[in-house]
Parts: sequence; C-alpha cells; structure tokens
Amino acid sequence: METFECIENRRSVRDFNDTPVEWEKVGNILRAGQLAPSTGNVQDWRFIAVTDKTKRAALANASLKQHWMAKAPVIIVVYSDPKSTQRFYGLRGEKLYTIQNCAAAIENMLLAATDQGLASCWVGAFDEEMVSKVLGAPTDVRPQALIPIGYTDAKPGELKRNRLVDIVYINSWNGKVVNFDLLMDDFSEVMRNKINEAVDTVTEKAPSVGESIAVKGKEKIKAIHAKIKGHIEKRRKKKEEQFEAEFKEELGDEDADISDEEDLE
Ligand SMILES: Cc1cc2nc3c(=O)[nH]c(=O)nc-3n(C[C@H](O)[C@H](O)[C@H](O)COP(=O)(O)O)c2cc1C
Repeated sequence: METFECIENRRSVRDFNDTPVEWEKVGNILRAGQLAPSTGNVQDWRFIAVTDKTKRAALANASLKQHWMAKAPVIIVVYSDPKSTQRFYGLRGEKLYTIQNCAAAIENMLLAATDQGLASCWVGAFDEEMVSKVLGAPTDVRPQALIPIGYTDAKPGELKRNRLVDIVYINSWNGKVVNFDLLMDDFSEVMRNKINEAVDTVTEKAPSVGESIAVKGKEKIKAIHAKIKGHIEKRRKKKEEQFEAEFKEELGDEDADISDEEDLE
C-alpha cells in the first residue's frame, strides 16, 4: 500500500472477527514500532504482545470495561520506561519526550497493521495500575496505550477531520490563506482526491437526482478538472522558464546552450 493511502485508510476499529492474526504480521507491527524516532534515540519503549484470552479480557476490563477489545486476538501494550529519558532530559524527558516517543511508535504500529489488512484501535482510556497488575509490570514503567489488533468485517467508518484551512497557518499563528486549495495546487494528490470525492457524490446521488442530471454533473466536474490541470501545467511551465532563465544567467548564454550531442560526449 502506498504510504499516503495507508494513512488515509487507517481507522479506529472496534469490531473484530474470529480470524487469527498471523504471527509474522504481528512481528512486522512490532518492528514498525521499533523503527519509530525517539529523543536522542533512547528508544524508551517496551512492547507486550498479549495473546492470552484471560489476560485480554482482563485488559478490556481495565480499559473502563471496553469489552469489545477482548475479541481482538492480539493486544499490543506499549509501555514507556522513562528512566533513560529522565536521566538525559530531566523533567521535559519524563513529562513530554517519553510520551511523544511512545506515541510515534504507536502510530507506526497502527499504520503497519493497516498496511497488512488488519484492523486496530489506539486505546488510551484505562486504569494504569490495573493494566500493570494484569501484565506483572513494575511500578517505574507506565502503560501508554493498548492496541487491539485483528481482522474485521466492519466497513471503515467515515473519515471525520477538520478542514486544512481551519487548522493550518502559514508563517505565523493565525496566518490564514484566503484560497488554500489554490496554494496547494501543486499537490496533485489533494486535487485528485477532491475530484474523486465530487464524482463519488454525483454517482451516489444519481438515483435521486436522475441519470441525466448526474451525467451533466460529471461532465461539469471533468471540465473543472481540465481547468485545474491547465492551471497546474501553466504554473509548471512558468517555473521551468524561470529556472532556465536563472540557469542561463548563471552560466552565461553560450555555455547554457549545450546540445544533446555535446552532452553525451
Ligand atoms: C490518545 C488516544 C486515546 C484513545 N483512546 C481510545 C479509547 O480508549 N477507546 C476508543 O475506542 N478509542 C480511543 N481512541 C481512538 C479515537 O477515538 C479515534 O482515533 C478518533 O475518534 C478518530 O477516529 P479514527 O481513528 O477512526 O480516525 C484514542 C485515540 C487516541 C489518539
């Protein structure tokens, strides 16, 4: 799966079927956690892969009775062991870095699960003492997240996010852009998704609005798409011309006019 596709496909899933999870896939998920960045590369995380049925039920119970978790064949518990982080970075290490390090590992694991066709969920609501008692963990380490992992028959939930324009500032706090999409026009991924979304909406609405209106709608979207493509192409050309001019200026006109043949020699 492409990285961006994987990020977009990931969802919190709370419904698992009985299909066992291949150990190899669990290994890949643990490896993804291991590869996460951490402050000064302290790698202050520990992972416990819980497959035992009784313990999974106890963990679900410790997670404010989120009983759906127990159905997942594997629950990975991510622990922070903040001693080294605290030693190197003091209070900031203990209160911030160790949590961020584990969060990076957790997200890597969720993406590795998604990439391998597995469903998962980041669970943060639990009683830490109860979880550590189930797993026999010492008191100087802290459970950061529980990740139930398994196969699901559930359809992916809707992706609900605030709009980029509402959460992104440019250059300074509250630095808003009037037309964010125009600013992003080099990011064809964003454009392609918008076009696909529009086509999906028209297709979905076809039975209620009537086939001819739906066809007209699609034509209109195609026309907009062509317009955007033209706009992007124009910008690309302009950038190329600009680059060529700068290149010529740097080398002097004669040197810059190297023919292909000379280039090959
Ligand atoms: C720190 C953290 C703790 C979370 N804890 C829980 C939890 O205890 N139970 C749960 O069902 N979901 C939990 N979630 C999942 C969020 O509810 C979910 O990510 C959010 O609703 C967005 O949905 P999505 O993950 O499908 O995009 C948690 C997520 C994060 C990042």
